[in-house]
Amino acid sequence: MSQQNIVVGVTGGIAAYKMVDVVSQLRKAGFNVHVIMTANASQFINPLTFQTISQNAVMVDQFQAPSHWDVRHISMADKADLFLIAPASANMIGKIANGIADDMLSTTVMATTAPVLIAPAMNVHMYENEIVQQNINRLKALGYQFIDPEFGRLACGYEGKGRLASNDVIVNTILEFNCLKDLQGQKVLITAGPTREHLDPVRFFSNPSTGKMGYALASQAGKRGASVTLISGPSHLPDPKDVNTVRVQTAQQMYEAVLEHECDADIIIGAAAVADYRPVQQAAQKIKKAQDELTLTLVKNPDILREIGKHKNNRILVGFAAETHEPLKYGLEKLVKKNLDLIVINNVSDSDAGFAVDTNRVVLMDVEGNEEKIELTSKQQIAIAIWDYIVKHLINKEA
Ligand SMILES: Cc1cc2nc3c(=O)[nH]c(=O)nc-3n(C[C@H](O)[C@H](O)[C@H](O)COP(=O)(O)O)c2cc1C
Repeated sequence: MSQQNIVVGVTGGIAAYKMVDVVSQLRKAGFNVHVIMTANASQFINPLTFQTISQNAVMVDQFQAPSHWDVRHISMADKADLFLIAPASANMIGKIANGIADDMLSTTVMATTAPVLIAPAMNVHMYENEIVQQNINRLKALGYQFIDPEFGRLACGYEGKGRLASNDVIVNTILEFNCLKDLQGQKVLITAGPTREHLDPVRFFSNPSTGKMGYALASQAGKRGASVTLISGPSHLPDPKDVNTVRVQTAQQMYEAVLEHECDADIIIGAAAVADYRPVQQAAQKIKKAQDELTLTLVKNPDILREIGKHKNNRILVGFAAETHEPLKYGLEKLVKKNLDLIVINNVSDSDAGFAVDTNRVVLMDVEGNEEKIELTSKQQIAIAIWDYIVKHLINKEA
């Protein structure tokens, strides 16, 4: 754990002083802590206090001459295994949610790929303000995580929700957080996106999958220390950072790519929406509009997960079920039939979940009969919850 770097961003609120204890606890827990303060935060507490407690230089001004020849906000953004912003002012939440990077803290947050935890603290009416709530929801949808403020008496004299979460809650959230690289050493293989089954050079069978769920799983696994290979059908999404991405078109190509990489994998997740059938024949030339009726014969594609399930050995195998009716019943059937350890079941008839939307709501069901429901949230959050579940129920169970 001593290798872990936590960057703590402190903004201008009364609760800034509480972070002295949080930084101290994180140091004692073995983390290397780097504090960035906004200029307004330094009205509330002197940077020297954090410098002494963290035993690292405290950054406030991004244009201050660096002690080393590096660009300070970039080097700190890269160094972070986890970013904590506490207390997070309404102002800072608004800036991050709207892409404003005009000081050391907001610029570093913008440049980091580390998970960001935000602990807001403010007057109850500020917290309940619709603009603040929209900014929070926007950030949540983008994968930023929040440590909710508590209800209680506020420094401004009001009573309500807005008090910074207690120091213990903040520290425990960090200790339990996935920055602990709980997938370190694991080799993960993930399929994502749709497949395309061509009828002729310009027409194909496919489905509306965009790959978002599989890509989110891949990037989260990478952040948690796994070595990740992503086998993706056609998707407009860019290759996730630090993930070996292999692009394919058809189910057959996806199957072959999986076979090529599966021996290396400890965990295989089939998140791709693989076409069950393909045309028997693929015309070399565009099919002309000649006959009134055109009969196509389709042939079954390999069932990738089922094939792997037959010889899975010690691997953890996770599948997805996209169902339009009786999702739990069909999900359970798939879990058993394909010899999976875990199935992620979603009802794709919901307009806000499943295919081609940014959100999802799923049920996780494993071989032990455990079930966990994840309510509507961003696919990034679903990915985090799926990995949390795998680590807790499938990896650590075997330890
Ligand atoms: C005494 C005092 C207490 C404040 N407490 C808070 C607070 O708890 N939360 C908050 O969002 N803003 C608070 N503010 C307002 C912020 O300091 C202000 O919005 C500032 O622009 C935030 O800057 P920063 O986000 O760059 O730190 C407080 C202001 C004062 C004068």
